[in-house]
Amino acid sequence: MVVKPKPRNLRKQTASRVLILHGPNLNLVGTREPGVYGRETLADIERHLHELASELGVALETFQSNSEGKLVDRIQAARQSADAIVINAGAYTHTSVAIRDALLATDLPVIEVHLSNTYKREAFRRRSLIVDVAVGQIVGFGADSYLLGLRAAAAVLARRK
Ligand code: DQA
Repeated sequence: MVVKPKPRNLRKQTASRVLILHGPNLNLVGTREPGVYGRETLADIERHLHELASELGVALETFQSNSEGKLVDRIQAARQSADAIVINAGAYTHTSVAIRDALLATDLPVIEVHLSNTYKREAFRRRSLIVDVAVGQIVGFGADSYLLGLRAAAAVLARRK
């Protein structure tokens, strides 16, 4: 059977939906170890993310929690509400099988981001339980890691449309 591609104007035109997740202690960014994580607050980072999202025509949702279970619940809910996930799981990156499993269960493209270059730091930060279930990982660009992550998610989704 030959399936003809739909003309462009009949294709689904809804905006891609990206969920940005911040894990534990990221609510303190801006004042927490500024030499490592920078001086931009989470509110600053989210403002820049919303500006970029409207430039890219992407619908954005953000969520921060210090609790592993709440992050797992939000990831599970993303099965209905998002097309891609950009996640900075903070310290849970290095420990959480539950977050890894939840990401796998969504079957959504995942972009892992970190403010700091985790490979230049303590050995335990070099292991990520997320990276091999993610499309890719962006580390070390400070607040720009999130913006690069959002661009990467938008590019992945544009390729799939
Ligand atoms: C971090 C790196 C993690 O190792 C650390 O536990 C964090 C922040 C980052 O963005 O650089 O909380 O995810």
